[in-house]
Amino acid sequence: MIKENISLQPFNTFGIDVNARYFASFQSEENVFEILEQQLGESQSPLILGGGSNILFTKHVDGLVLKNEIGGIDLVHQDQDYFYVKAGAGVNWHSLVMHCIDNNYAGIENLALIPGNAGASPMQNIGAYGVEIKDVFHSLEAIHIHDKTKVILNNKECHFGYRESVFKNIYKNQFVITSVTYKLKKVPQYNISYGAIPQELERMGVKDLSIKDVALAVMNIRNSKLPNPKIIGNAGSFFKNPEISVSQFDQLKLNFPNIVGHATENNLIKVAAGWLIEQSGWKGYREGDAGCHDKQALVLVNHGNASGSQILELSEKIINSVNDKFGIELSCEVNII
Ligand code: FAD
Ligand code: EPU
Repeated sequence: MIKENISLQPFNTFGIDVNARYFASFQSEENVFEILEQQLGESQSPLILGGGSNILFTKHVDGLVLKNEIGGIDLVHQDQDYFYVKAGAGVNWHSLVMHCIDNNYAGIENLALIPGNAGASPMQNIGAYGVEIKDVFHSLEAIHIHDKTKVILNNKECHFGYRESVFKNIYKNQFVITSVTYKLKKVPQYNISYGAIPQELERMGVKDLSIKDVALAVMNIRNSKLPNPKIIGNAGSFFKNPEISVSQFDQLKLNFPNIVGHATENNLIKVAAGWLIEQSGWKGYREGDAGCHDKQALVLVNHGNASGSQILELSEKIINSVNDKFGIELSCEVNII
């Protein structure tokens, strides 16, 4: 059923109060086809919404918002080394991680506590603590919005990159992802060298490491620095960590010896945007209800009643000031609507 003039405030983790002119939720592929049939003649693509945790609304949505509620987690296949687990696109991501841990399906334990839904996990190739979705992604099912046909895309066809996929580029606004199948290991391959994981595992007193311990360590670290959207509106990292050439990094190091960066597979240096923003004086800054988080400068927050435009304006000031100081242009990770 398509409803009219619905507030999207409960459906985005920034807590921005805008309305959707039309709003519907869907629980199955059939529902998607039915809704798309009714939409014949609409030139504008509907906006597909998962958990609303990577989106900033700067205006009312004049068209249709379609909220994905396709559920179900199924073990669809297994071979000697892998479990193939298919999740409905509306499955909450963290519940999927916990389900996999309970069943000893290894590979996504480092991605515990990322908000949002499984269906959005390939959109920007979600990543944290040394793992990205591309490392475990097998395939996805999606419906082409205008052709109304179903497609299956494999890992290669999604062209995953750092916080990137085809769905943010050439296929933008063209598909409704309805399910994702992950290829998870029977024997865990632990990835525990990243950031503060080793120290946290030691603090926890872990003896016989399990995938559950890894998830708990990651959850503890995340809880210590990332704001809980239920308490303070945010969408995680607002910007991507910029990738620059080795020579540009070396040059910057002469003036800023403490600059934080590490080498990527493409022979570039990924610089910690949080450091650049903090050094530019923005950490903990607040302008009305729009602010820069006091524990993690890469996260912009809504202290209560900020509008999306106010947060966007703050982000533009940060981009300009980081560019003035370091000659690096930050780009947004969050989807601006
Ligand atoms: P939404 O915000 O609802 O949508 C995001 C984009 O995907 C939109 O463009 C939307 O139109 C599109 N979309 C969503 N679902 C579908 C679908 N089924 N079909 C087609 N298009 C779709 N991200 C990380 O990568 N790593 C992190 O560590 C991380 N930490 C975070 C911490 C916090 C506190 C918060 C608030 C966010 C964090 N994020 C992180 C960002 C966010 O959680 C992820 O990007 C997540 O995958 C977004 O899922 P969602 O369902 O909320 O997507
Ligand atoms: N730093 C500062 N000041 C800050 C924040 C960070 O100096 O205020 C420096 C520190 O030196 C720190 C380094 O930046 O060691 C990296 O910080 P952190 O480990 O918190 O990670 P990040 O680069 O800020 C990225 C992802 C996160 C992901 C974490 C852990 C991006 C854009 N962000 O953050 O993803 O959870 O690593 O892997 O790549 C998200 O995408 O929304 C997100 C939260």
